[in-house]
Amino acid sequence: MKSIFISMTVVAGLMVAGSVQATDMPAVGKTKCGACHAIDKKMVGPAWIDVAKKYKGDVNAASKIAANITKGGEFGWKMSKMPPKGMNATDAEIKSLAEFIAGLK
Ligand code: HEC
Repeated sequence: MKSIFISMTVVAGLMVAGSVQATDMPAVGKTKCGACHAIDKKMVGPAWIDVAKKYKGDVNAASKIAANITKGGEFGWKMSKMPPKGMNATDAEIKSLAEFIAGLK
């Protein structure tokens, strides 16, 4: 009985680990940012995980990222210019995406 319990715990643990690795972009991110961004690889713009690293340890990360998404342009990645608000994201969508990006690790 005890061994069954342990193996179930291991399976549950693996499932949690798997879902963390496969972090998925929120649906609004896919439609309004996904043409240029992915979470873990460079496309037209930087991988969002790299953006999270850039702001690591910054308590204002989410609000700085939101401000940059809103104004668009260049942020030192030397890639190309980002359109302001991506593809017409609303302020509320930008805020939640910025929080999502800042929280990636
Ligand atoms: C047409 C392509 C395009 C779209 C659409 C786009 N981006 Fe970008 N994004 C870029 C490029 C290019 C850069 C890098 C600019 C540079 O070279 O510094 C960038 C940079 C960024 C950065 C880095 C900001 C920083 O402070 O370093 C964030 C965060 C970001 N984008 C989020 C988003 C979000 C969220 C959306 C959707 C609402 C979005 N982007 C839509 C092209 C795009």
